[in-house]
Amino acid sequence: MSNAEVVNPAQLAKVSKLFEMLDDPGRLRLLQGGEQRRHSAGSVICREGEKGDEFYVVISGRLKVQADDFGNAKDIAALGPGAFFGEMAVVGNQPRSATVTVEQDAELLAFGRAIVEEILRDYPTVRTALGKIGVKRAEDLMQKLSGS
Ligand code: CMP
Repeated sequence: MSNAEVVNPAQLAKVSKLFEMLDDPGRLRLLQGGEQRRHSAGSVICREGEKGDEFYVVISGRLKVQADDFGNAKDIAALGPGAFFGEMAVVGNQPRSATVTVEQDAELLAFGRAIVEEILRDYPTVRTALGKIGVKRAEDLMQKLSGS
């Protein structure tokens, strides 16, 4: 079964800013290029400092974003349905800025670099928006770390 059958693109557009930014053909293309995965609580999806080639959209569940603060894991953000993460490494070609762990059993859509690049090439406004969100998140992360 393809992702387009498992996850309804119109539904995703209502809950996910990323999908909202695309038109119908773009949503379908992105969705078909993704892989739906289930993860149980405790699973680490990406680790701070590591190389990252995947980008994720949360379908269900809850995840926490943490960053190293002089040897302690500091909570930076919580991500729920519709949120996306992993854009900073994939779009910005940089190591993972934070560790993302599943807090409540989660269903994710995972996208490889190739499909993300393809969509960003064809939807420059999405590239700009993702870049801005990445900058905001990086600032927020630094603020939370330096504020300890
Ligand atoms: P990336 O650096 O690829 O991997 C870790 C991800 O955590 C990062 O992309 C963002 O998607 C996410 N992230 C980092 N900082 C924040 C933040 N301040 N708020 C929400 N998500 C964040």
